[in-house]
Amino acid sequence: MRFKAETAIITGASSGLGAEMARQLARTGVKVGLTARREPELESLAQEIRAAGGIAFLAPADAADPASTRAAFAQLTEALGPVDLLIANAGVGLHVTADQFSAEKFDKMTRVNLIAVAYAIEAVLPTMRERKSGQIVGISSLASYRGLPGSAGYSATKAGLTSLLEGLRAELAGSGVKVTAVHPGFVRTPMTAGSNHRQPFMMDPEPAARIMLRGIARGKRRVDFPLPMVALLRGVQFMPGWLYDRLANRLFNP
Ligand SMILES: NC(=O)c1ccc[n+]([C@@H]2O[C@H](COP(=O)([O-])OP(=O)(O)OC[C@H]3O[C@@H](n4cnc5c(N)ncnc54)[C@H](OP(=O)(O)O)[C@@H]3O)[C@@H](O)[C@H]2O)c1
Repeated sequence: MRFKAETAIITGASSGLGAEMARQLARTGVKVGLTARREPELESLAQEIRAAGGIAFLAPADAADPASTRAAFAQLTEALGPVDLLIANAGVGLHVTADQFSAEKFDKMTRVNLIAVAYAIEAVLPTMRERKSGQIVGISSLASYRGLPGSAGYSATKAGLTSLLEGLRAELAGSGVKVTAVHPGFVRTPMTAGSNHRQPFMMDPEPAARIMLRGIARGKRRVDFPLPMVALLRGVQFMPGWLYDRLANRLFNP
């Protein structure tokens, strides 16, 4: 796997997919900037990357706090130089469902899954446009394809993220700045651990990160995987509402 990028910032790098993408990206020679709230996890990942011959810097931040995000991006940009690749990966999956409806939880989740991505983009986009080069990647989810029962709030944040990325991508076409929206299915990470939902076609983080990075390296507009789950959800996407209401609970919220 070869990247044009020399530098990358990865949000949500303290565990799961973010940590695995950082490891794999650093192995290709890209200098990585790591951010998330948990400093010890970031520190031990940075040490692991450096021990393997890579270059890593870290700046802990709470993505829900714009000032904290801005400070972390300024610190990482100073250490890395201009950012060629942003992977906005930080995310949370809080239960906002008909059974447990909470606007406060939805607000919290939206701040991390959607608003924080906008602050991260704001921190890198002007320089990318000036340099006519760069790539913005957002980690959305196959849950964005349709409002899923049992994950209504999460689906809504990820659908918002996909739309944000798609609109920007079309606007930036021909500018030298690429935009990639990644839509993973279920991946075995702390986010999915302990869930009592059905999690078909579950993948391990190593192959999942490899698929994501391969698509990013190729500058793809979208990276949607695994294929069987994409096929299932594409079918569901085009179902009429009356049929969706009959089947969706059985499929996604048993
Ligand atoms: N696992 C799946 O099945 C799956 C499927 C589709 C999409 N995704 C998406 O993939 C991304 C990575 O998730 P994951 O599965 O790897 O889960 P994870 O291991 O729980 O990772 C989530 C990351 O987000 C960070 N984060 C959460 N809240 C934050 C905050 N307020 N400020 C800064 N960082 C914050 C966490 O770091 P700290 O706690 O240290 O802050 C952690 O590094 C998420 O956007 C998720 O929605 C996951």
